[in-house]
Amino acid sequence: MRLFITGGSGQVGRALRKRLPPNWTVWAPSSQQWNLENLPEGLATLDTLRPDWVVHLAAWTDVDGCERDPARAFRINTEATAHLARWAARKGVRFLFISTDFVFDGAKRRPYTEDDPPHPLQVYGETKQKAEVRILEWSGEYWILRTSWVYGEGKNFVLSVLKWAQQYETLRIAMDQESVPTSAEDLAQAILCLLHDPPSPGVYHVTHPDSATRVAWVQAILEICGIRKNIQPVPSSTFPNPAKRPVYSVLSTERWQRYGCYAFPSWKEALKRYLQEQCGF
Ligand SMILES: NC(=O)c1ccc[n+]([C@@H]2O[C@H](COP(=O)([O-])OP(=O)(O)OC[C@H]3O[C@@H](n4cnc5c(N)ncnc54)[C@H](OP(=O)(O)O)[C@@H]3O)[C@@H](O)[C@H]2O)c1
Repeated sequence: MRLFITGGSGQVGRALRKRLPPNWTVWAPSSQQWNLENLPEGLATLDTLRPDWVVHLAAWTDVDGCERDPARAFRINTEATAHLARWAARKGVRFLFISTDFVFDGAKRRPYTEDDPPHPLQVYGETKQKAEVRILEWSGEYWILRTSWVYGEGKNFVLSVLKWAQQYETLRIAMDQESVPTSAEDLAQAILCLLHDPPSPGVYHVTHPDSATRVAWVQAILEICGIRKNIQPVPSSTFPNPAKRPVYSVLSTERWQRYGCYAFPSWKEALKRYLQEQCGF
């Protein structure tokens, strides 16, 4: 198998690269070596390498940054993805893309299925949703995996909570957000499973089967690490973030479960496993 991975240095990319069989030929260039903002050159490299799969994990994931600079966000997250997908469709190369729960606005208040109409509330979600639409324009073999609240190796919310817990007695946490904290390790296992034995092309919601409020997530992080701090639930509007977050973006994973390739543990089990390494309890 010949695999070209974008975003190989990100949380999901690192977790995936650790698991790839040694007999696969893998390219995972850094953004210095291969950049989505310089795609004519990037596509010429792909022409030379002739991969079987493009696993497109790279994105500008700074949700507030995207809000401040929408032109850059659309260039990286939408336009570059569209060019890559078109290249893959033309060359008969399989294309895997990671999208987000932020394509939804949260009004439904019940788990979102793949057939629910997206309605993003912020630029980041819009860039990813428009990328999905552009991928669908090409009749290639594509898999769009939507996931949520990822933590792994790299900057993420779990590590931020541990840092805040060292600095403050009381942590102010948004009380009006619910989704699924997703372990990059489990997501990588799911991607690997898909690469070995892909289901029908299309959109899949890929995460743990149960959900958490942001407050419950923080409580679990502190409890698992044996840290005693106060949590003060506050409305999201308390924080001066430019980008709105959905109040509810839980993804229904029934389609993924029917495919039956990789069974995710509960989000809390995965978090325990992660924190064993982070806080060594
Ligand atoms: N993190 C989440 O909570 C979350 C939730 C839902 C969906 N997702 C999606 O999941 C995927 C992986 O997320 P992640 O958390 O692993 O991301 P991440 O840790 O933020 O890593 C982003 C990756 O994208 C690369 N990248 C950024 N701009 C680039 C550019 N212009 N050219 C080439 N590479 C570029 C980065 O390379 P450098 O390190 O070299 O800059 C890095 O490898 C993304 O598509 C994201 O939208 C993430």
